[in-house]
Amino acid sequence: MRFTTAFVCIVTGGTSGIGEGCVRKFASEGASVVFCAPGASDGLALEAELNAGRAKSALYVPCDMTKPEQVERLMARSVEAFGRIDCVINNAGWHPPHRTIDGFSIEEFRALNDLNVIGVFAACKYALPHIRKVRGSIINISSLTAVIGQLQATTYVATKGAVTAFTKALAIDEAAHGVRVNAISPGNIFTPLWQQGIDQSPDPKKCREDGDAAQLLGRMGTTEEVAKLAFFLAVDATFTTGVDHYITAGAELAYGRKTQI
Ligand SMILES: NC(=O)c1ccc[n+]([C@@H]2O[C@H](COP(=O)([O-])OP(=O)(O)OC[C@H]3O[C@@H](n4cnc5c(N)ncnc54)[C@H](O)[C@@H]3O)[C@@H](O)[C@H]2O)c1
Repeated sequence: MRFTTAFVCIVTGGTSGIGEGCVRKFASEGASVVFCAPGASDGLALEAELNAGRAKSALYVPCDMTKPEQVERLMARSVEAFGRIDCVINNAGWHPPHRTIDGFSIEEFRALNDLNVIGVFAACKYALPHIRKVRGSIINISSLTAVIGQLQATTYVATKGAVTAFTKALAIDEAAHGVRVNAISPGNIFTPLWQQGIDQSPDPKKCREDGDAAQLLGRMGTTEEVAKLAFFLAVDATFTTGVDHYITAGAELAYGRKTQI
């Protein structure tokens, strides 16, 4: 347990994968944690598990991050419940199945932007008046693909490029308020989203093996490993802002066989 005084963290998309890992980590360190997903009941079991045997410090709020009015309500509800916001982890996001540009419609790209980019903007916009009061921080979950690209993923990569760039611009403005804004760019982290990719691939076994082999360390990362980095950035990294933190086990290093021809 690290916290002896109140610390309130909001995790968007906290019911699965990296977001759930962050919810569990901050809760285990004694923070109050608010987390959301679009479904009315998606996070209630996790909320009950985390609150068992102690004063209520985990709160699930149904919220679709593509709906700005719901995002504004998420922030208001958090302050109503716990009185402050110290940190927002903008994690909610989606990676569509792999296709070339011919296979993505304009509407699909717009919809992905609504979640992966506008949702992050809205969360920052509505949380910052509260975060500034306690000189807290924001952590945006971007992706290594924003820097190195990815096969048949133009729309996803473009949204994550926007998240990384937005993080730096916001860090510049918010420094005047003592607020730090950082990005985490994961490489391959094994989550239900990654499993979806495996299930949709023509050769699931090879897809998993390739996913593991893409890292110098020969395995995918865990949600706990990402959560530890997020915790460090939120609590200990007091001289760090505007930085894109890779958590990739070296996936971006060295030459490999990359041609598709
Ligand atoms: N897993 C990886 O390898 C990897 C790599 C790089 C970046 N990321 C990023 O990390 C984040 C989490 O990915 P994950 O792999 O844990 O995915 P996941 O699918 O396991 O979890 C996604 C979470 O977001 C929530 N969510 C989805 N749509 C939402 C919406 N409209 N409103 C609110 N919540 C919504 C889901 O309910 C879920 O809780 C995403 O932004 C993803 O792009 C993941």
